[in-house]
Amino acid sequence: MTLHTRPPALLPEHKSFLTAGVRWVRHWNEHLFSFAIERPASFRFRSGEFVMIGLLDDEGKALMRAYSIASPAWSDELEFLSIKVADGPLTSKLQLIRPDDQLYLGRKPTGTLVSDALLPGKRLFMLGTGTGLAPFLSVARDPEIYDRFDQVVMVHSVRRVSDLAYYEELTAQLASDPLVQEQALLQFHYVPTVTREPFHTSGRIQALADDGTLFRSPVVGPAEFDPETDRIMLCGSMSMIRDFAEMLEGKGFIEGSNANPGHFVIERAFVG
Ligand SMILES: Cc1cc2nc3c(=O)[nH]c(=O)nc-3n(C[C@H](O)[C@H](O)[C@H](O)COP(=O)(O)OP(=O)(O)OC[C@H]3O[C@@H](n4cnc5c(N)ncnc54)[C@H](O)[C@@H]3O)c2cc1C
Ligand SMILES: NC(=O)c1ccc[n+]([C@@H]2O[C@H](COP(=O)([O-])OP(=O)(O)OC[C@H]3O[C@@H](n4cnc5c(N)ncnc54)[C@H](OP(=O)(O)O)[C@@H]3O)[C@@H](O)[C@H]2O)c1
Repeated sequence: MTLHTRPPALLPEHKSFLTAGVRWVRHWNEHLFSFAIERPASFRFRSGEFVMIGLLDDEGKALMRAYSIASPAWSDELEFLSIKVADGPLTSKLQLIRPDDQLYLGRKPTGTLVSDALLPGKRLFMLGTGTGLAPFLSVARDPEIYDRFDQVVMVHSVRRVSDLAYYEELTAQLASDPLVQEQALLQFHYVPTVTREPFHTSGRIQALADDGTLFRSPVVGPAEFDPETDRIMLCGSMSMIRDFAEMLEGKGFIEGSNANPGHFVIERAFVG
């Protein structure tokens, strides 16, 4: 049998970006994959932030896109969860990466889905659709979040069952993660929902809030979002964020930022 191998795809040095080697790649289905790159020694970020990553385009120019970092701030690798857009300028190429290939990495991570942008509270709800899960994988694997909140609830809404990336790890309450396993066992709760295929939970996130699903045991406290106790991070499509932010503001929640921490924070998972 012939093995169709190719030499690693290396990149020339770039004045604006760091270069990092791919460590591993995991394909979830035809629309989604995860991968990790080495973390350059100079690269610092806060759990929940995003950064530009990319490759060279056919003209030899750097083609960069924003990506949430899915690994926590303490990790020695940078993990990402990516969509595969069939004719997407970056992801049509990025989905072909293999270990030892190189990627460009921006030097300045940034973002609002960080605990610094939230006031203290008891329950943290992280509400994500599609690849909007990525920043929450970072936050939930950071021990610091369990010191700030009594309960950390991660809600992931997708169209199809196979879009539930990290389902096994999350259902196991991060039990194989040595740094957070003990706190996560007591404080972390995962609520997956699948909206276009049969699954045990099938409502959009708003419906799960309205019918009380998000607040059921083991979650304790009020059976609705309450600005007294709850802090909320939102990441998904523009429509999801807009609809949710409006609902939260109606309940008295105030949007936070790095400069002015508040009750909830939002970030688009993609443009379009
Ligand atoms: C702050 C921020 C953080 C982001 N984090 C991530 C991330 O962690 N993972 C990720 O895969 N993408 C993320 N994106 C989107 C990412 O920047 C690119 O758009 C994506 O990689 C596709 O690039 P492309 O060049 O192939 O296609 P583009 O030309 O960038 O996009 C083409 C079209 O594909 C759709 N699309 C793009 N990205 C997504 C997505 N993630 N989910 C569903 N549909 C999409 C949109 O309709 C878009 O108009 C983020 C975007 C922003 C603004
Ligand atoms: N994932 C796929 O199977 C797939 C396949 C081909 C192409 N794509 C393309 O990729 C893009 C995004 O796909 P995606 O599946 O990642 O994201 P998506 O369409 O945003 O759907 C992800 C989840 O978010 C929910 N949702 C959508 N709008 C919402 C809102 N306003 N409030 C609350 N929940 C909302 C969806 O529920 P609903 O199901 O009820 O909308 C679904 O559960 C689209 O442009 C799509 O054409 C995706």
